[in-house]
Amino acid sequence: MGLIDTKRERAKRNRRRIVLPEGDEPRTMKAAETILAEGLAEPILLTPASIAVDAKRLADYAALLYGLRKAKGLSEADAARLAADPMYYGMLMVKAGDADGLVSGAVHSTGDMLRPALQVVKTAPGMMLVSSSFLIECRNKSLGENGLLVYADCVVNPCPDAEELANIAVATAETARKLCGIAEPRVAMLSFSTKGSASHHLVDKVREATEIAHSLAPDLLVDGELQLDAAFVPEVAAIKAKESPVAGRANVLVFPDLQSGNIGYKITQRIGGADCFAVLQGLASPCNDLSRGCSVEDIVNTVAATAAQI
Ligand code: ACO
Repeated sequence: MGLIDTKRERAKRNRRRIVLPEGDEPRTMKAAETILAEGLAEPILLTPASIAVDAKRLADYAALLYGLRKAKGLSEADAARLAADPMYYGMLMVKAGDADGLVSGAVHSTGDMLRPALQVVKTAPGMMLVSSSFLIECRNKSLGENGLLVYADCVVNPCPDAEELANIAVATAETARKLCGIAEPRVAMLSFSTKGSASHHLVDKVREATEIAHSLAPDLLVDGELQLDAAFVPEVAAIKAKESPVAGRANVLVFPDLQSGNIGYKITQRIGGADCFAVLQGLASPCNDLSRGCSVEDIVNTVAATAAQI
């Protein structure tokens, strides 16, 4: 059974309420039919018209948003205007406990979906920041964990500092465990240098992040800085990083910034032919983004993965 099939099975058991704020978008409407028919979740389709029907609830959500953002300068009038926007309304449903998760992005850009998620749903207790894991299913089953790799962060944080990078590494290992069933995450902190082969402040950041990750999660197998080949080619690891507990057998790859992470997953997908699937991690409730080029099946799978994250 593939990763997505496992998520679908878990979603069926959970039967969560998942909001779809792009409720009048044709692929989303079709996906909702499949989700219902297969019992993957209870989809809640939002449109400006469906929101306007319940004026009391809209007023309650506007008050909730005002309470959350007034210290940041949001006026009551702007809170009322924003709450009527399906994206904010959906996030407010999740915040209020009226929905369990949210999937959006068939129309909106990643930033336009992330900003309300960060402002309203916010980070989970104990999490420093929100980031993402890309679940990568390779055709070559000898790579990673039976062909499965987890990449981070390829979606959210443009320039993480060392502490943020360390937190991304620890959160991604947790996602690898919980969502991918990888019992022993082995985390490689990627760089253009392996164990001091190059000197540069960018390499220093990855080294420092590795040390912080060790202190945050002393039992986690995490090592760096490692080049990609040293991270998961045993023959290269034997030459470049003989003592490393991770080199040559990494199953979690942490990129030093968003440029390398985003480019890295797209190379894996478009040139390597792997199936790639992203989830956000660190939010108080699961909210996930779609690509604007997504298919109906992508939406169904993302809803299943979101339900499975709870
Ligand atoms: N975790 C938690 N909170 C965060 C994070 C984070 N990673 N980043 C920002 N925030 C918080 C801020 O503290 C701020 O909170 P506050 O308003 O309560 O003080 C709020 O979110 C907004 O932060 P800003 O810095 O004002 O927002 P910004 O305009 O920088 O947007 C965003 C943040 C949307 C995440 C931005 O960094 C971004 O656009 N990231 C890249 C998204 C992207 O385009 N990805 C690539 C494409 S996706 C793909 O290819 C699959």
